[in-house]
Amino acid sequence: VRQLSQVYNLNRQKLFAPRPKLKVLDSIDFSVRPGEAVGLVGESGSGKTTLTRMLTGVERPGEGQVLYDGVDVWTGGEAHKKLFRRSVQVVLQNPRSSLDPRMRVGTSLLEPLRSLRIEGDHAARVLEVLDQVGLDKNALERFPHEFSGGQLQRIAIARALMPGPKVLIADEPVS
Ligand SMILES: Nc1ncnc2c1ncn2[C@@H]1O[C@H](COP(=O)(O)OP(=O)(O)OP(=O)(O)O)[C@@H](O)[C@H]1O
Ligand SMILES: [Mg+2]
Repeated sequence: VRQLSQVYNLNRQKLFAPRPKLKVLDSIDFSVRPGEAVGLVGESGSGKTTLTRMLTGVERPGEGQVLYDGVDVWTGGEAHKKLFRRSVQVVLQNPRSSLDPRMRVGTSLLEPLRSLRIEGDHAARVLEVLDQVGLDKNALERFPHEFSGGQLQRIAIARALMPGPKVLIADEPVS
């Protein structure tokens, strides 16, 4: 991450007043190497989730760059974007928002492989990942509302692990 900044335009307080600006991220620099774990600590509203959206390519930074393997995520071209989308996965702060309530867990787990067009033995991969997070395979037929918060979080982690990411971003996964 190089010199990353983000400013949000807030709503006007008065009809003709200029829109107030909120500088959420201010010239952030850091790098993560293979095998490294990096913790980011900050008070509520300090911009941790905002940074996560940029690290996963969901939101484009106003200034600065997010690089994967030394290449800018936004200007690196289609092949690199595809590699990046597969390699960087996220576990969201609220697991319920990352799982479709109408979809069986098994279908939700397969979804990343479908959308990323990853080939291979998907059924075997699902069982492998489920085992990694310590859930039984009968979870596959059930719906999100049938799980506890902690179990659901493990499903969200399993979903993030499905494509075999190189980088796993966890936005307060135990909150
Ligand atoms: N799209 C947006 N437009 C305007 N302001 C935003 C937008 N997204 C986030 N903010 C503001 O940016 C600030 C940072 O929010 P963010 O969610 O990144 O904080 P956080 O560090 O993850 O907090 P928490 O620990 O509570 O999860 C907050 O003040 C929030 O209100
Ligand atoms: Mg947050």
